[in-house]
Amino acid sequence: MANPPVRKAIFPAAGLGTRFLPATKATPKEMLPIVDVPLIQYALEEVVAAGIEEVIIVTGRGKRAIEDHFDLSFELDYFLEENGKSNLLDATYALLDRVQISYVRQRQPLGLGHAVACGRRLVGDEPFAVVLADDLIYADPPCLAQMVQVYERHGASVVAAQRVEPVQTRRYGIVDGEPVGERTIRVRTMVEKPEPSEAPSNLAIVGRYILTPELFDEIERAAPGRGGEIQLTDALVALLARQPIYAYEFTGIRYDAGDKLGFLQATVEYALRNEELGDRFRRYLKGLMASL
Ligand code: G1P
Repeated sequence: MANPPVRKAIFPAAGLGTRFLPATKATPKEMLPIVDVPLIQYALEEVVAAGIEEVIIVTGRGKRAIEDHFDLSFELDYFLEENGKSNLLDATYALLDRVQISYVRQRQPLGLGHAVACGRRLVGDEPFAVVLADDLIYADPPCLAQMVQVYERHGASVVAAQRVEPVQTRRYGIVDGEPVGERTIRVRTMVEKPEPSEAPSNLAIVGRYILTPELFDEIERAAPGRGGEIQLTDALVALLARQPIYAYEFTGIRYDAGDKLGFLQATVEYALRNEELGDRFRRYLKGLMASL
C-alpha cells in the first residue's frame, strides 16, 4: 500500500528569540529578513515546493506580525496598486494562494516537543512535516522535497541531518545508526544536545522532520528532558521502540540563522545570489576585502 502523502506542516514559532535581543523585543525572530524575505517566508516556500498544502504555525504572545505578514494588507495593497507597484508583492501572494495557514498558540514555552503537540488536532492522524524557520536551507531540490522522497521510499519518519564539528554536539540532537542507502541511515540511537564526550556520533539533527502521527502519543507521554523542556528528540527516541526512523544527510547549505554569525553568513550569501543586488554586492565585498 502506498504511504499516505505528507500534506501538512507544523512551524513552531513561539520561541522568545533571546539571542537576537534587542531586535526581537517586539518583532518575532521568524520575521527577521535575509535580504528582503523574512525567514518564515523561506520556510513557507520550501514546504509548498514539497507539495504541502496546509501549514500550522505555532505562535505565542508577541507574534502577531507573522499573521499580518501572511494576510492581505488592504492599505498597502491599495497604495501599491495606485502607484503601479503591485508586482512587489506578487510572489508573496502567489505563494499564499497555494497554501492554507492556521495558527495555534503555545501558551507557555515548554519546549519543541510541546510546541509540536500544539498542532496535533489540526494535523490529525496523518504524517506531517516540522520545519524550524531559523534553520535556513539553500538547496535544489529544496531540503524538504528531498526528505519526502526518503519518506516515500521507507514509509517512516525522517529527520534531516548534517555532520558538525565534534565540539558542537551540545547544540543539537545527535543521531547514530546503520547506513541503508545513499545519504540515509536507519537510526539506532538519538540524544538531545550531548556533551562531545557522550555523543554517539557527530551527525546532528537539522530543523526539518517528517513524522508519523504516532509521534504525538510519545510527546504526550514524554517527561521533561534537557532544560526541563518537553523535547522532540526524547519523543523520537520513544518512537524508535515502535517504528523505524531514518536520518537523511540532505544536499544543500544550511545556515543557522538563529545565531548571529549564521544570520550574517546567510545574509551575505543570499545577497551574492540575489539577481538585483548580486553583482554590485560582489564588487563592494571585493573592495572591502582589499581594504582589510
Ligand atoms: C532543536 C532540537 C535539536 C535540533 C535543532 C536543530 O534545538 O531540539 O534536536 O538539533 O533544533 O536546529 P534548538 O535549536 O531549538 O535548541
